[in-house]
Amino acid sequence: MMHIDIISAVPDLLYSPLSHSIVQKAKDKNLVSIDIHDLRDYSVDKHKKIDDYAYGGEAGMVLTPQPLFDCVKYLQQKRTYDAIIFPTPDAPVFTQKDANTLSLSNNILFICGHYKGIDQRVRDSLVTHEWSIGDYVLSGGELPALVISDAIIRLIPGVLGDATSALDDSHQDGLLSAPVYTRPAVYDGLEVPEVLRSGDHKKVSEWRSRQSEEKTRRIRSDLYKNVFKEH
Ligand code: ADE
Repeated sequence: MMHIDIISAVPDLLYSPLSHSIVQKAKDKNLVSIDIHDLRDYSVDKHKKIDDYAYGGEAGMVLTPQPLFDCVKYLQQKRTYDAIIFPTPDAPVFTQKDANTLSLSNNILFICGHYKGIDQRVRDSLVTHEWSIGDYVLSGGELPALVISDAIIRLIPGVLGDATSALDDSHQDGLLSAPVYTRPAVYDGLEVPEVLRSGDHKKVSEWRSRQSEEKTRRIRSDLYKNVFKEH
């Protein structure tokens, strides 16, 4: 079973998103277990302080080394981590390829930063992987840790009911997914494309591929070029 630990200064942000839908089903099936650790519990300061001013006069608070080092060292006595991940905007963007690789892990640890970030020595000494979830700045690493966890957990074999459905996802082959439809065939005059109702599997599959390619070229030419090596 995969195990995920998440260290956070705002643990309440994490509980609900990890207690519903696919992630909850994965927990129920014993395919993943997740523990959330409150960083403040590891502070030796009498006021449980976990942050301080940045050296060099930069604005904003930084998470101090002591609680983070102590918490990670404590967790490392129990588990060997395949990845100690620090979500941060100053890192490469997390992709489906990264999710695929991480889904084969046994133990993953997330360190969630807050305020201005975490002391660089924690990144240099403890963190093994850094990822951004996109080119915008969030208030902390909790939402990115949830995003990355969700992307990984749904790929663990047995989590999704239909074993092939993760393979059809957008990005899995570098392209965006084709449109999907369900009943009724006509809703308020709006029709489901004829080919999807034809029962001709070869035609349906060709239609899907074309839709996928056209949509990707139209709205994500960066991805399209990567797949078709067009410049
Ligand atoms: N922390 C703050 N913003 C972030 C982002 N875009 N990706 C990952 N971690 C972050």
